Amino acid sequence: MSDATDERPPARTRSFTRRGGRMLKQSHQDAWDRYADVLVLDVPRPPGGSTSVDPAYRVDPAQVFGRSAPMVVEIGCGSGDALVHAATQRPDWDFLALEVWRPGIGHAMAKMGEALPNVRFVEADAALALQTLLPPASAHEVWTFFPDPWPKNKHHKRRLVSPEFATTVADLVPPGGLWRLATDWGDYARAMRRVLDAHPSWELDSRERAPLRPQTRFERRGREADREIVDLAYRRT
Ligand SMILES: C[S@@+](CC[C@H](N)C(=O)[O-])C[C@H]1O[C@@H](n2cnc3c(N)ncnc32)[C@H](O)[C@@H]1O
Repeated sequence: MSDATDERPPARTRSFTRRGGRMLKQSHQDAWDRYADVLVLDVPRPPGGSTSVDPAYRVDPAQVFGRSAPMVVEIGCGSGDALVHAATQRPDWDFLALEVWRPGIGHAMAKMGEALPNVRFVEADAALALQTLLPPASAHEVWTFFPDPWPKNKHHKRRLVSPEFATTVADLVPPGGLWRLATDWGDYARAMRRVLDAHPSWELDSRERAPLRPQTRFERRGREADREIVDLAYRRT
């Protein structure tokens, strides 16, 4: 899924690996060339970091989108199936997608007939960037659909949903705001429940399918392998 070749501080465990290079398929490169100037935020990087954002830098959503509207932050949008679908369905909402995998961003842009004015991308490691990137309580909802499952026990520490990340996300949404998650790995779903049920800032709101979540490749693969698809919505207390 993720690719890459650059900085890898040994002290930090990442939720992604750098497989498959950063080469974009031609049609995705064309979309990148057409839209990236507008849709991909040109964030400052610390020295040597292509997936980190300078911790002193803040995004001002009203300035970025040119209006004040409910903002969804999608973590790991992949090739943008949910993002493009939802942004098309809800032109009255804004969507900020964080993704480390540039080919995914190119692919997402290729799915847009024209640059969607309510979408922006940040090419960055969300676990780190979201600690500082956005003003507190600036997101209406946060979405994490089909995060990399890291099924082997020895890799569980790489899973994105952890107590620390739950605190980072809690700072992004106001009380009453939602964090929507979905996974096709039962063991990860149970781990998400353990983490979020024990976290003082989150309470389970619903296990219904997220209203704007379309079927993606990852859901289809899970169903084909007879895995149950679990949706969780946690409400900020
Ligand atoms: C299994 S894919 C799911 C993509 C999409 N949400 C979907 O449902 O089709 C997980 C995505 O999360 C991205 N990802 C993993 N860790 C990330 C991180 N720390 N920050 C941003 N993106 C991340 C990966 O690059 C990958 O594209």
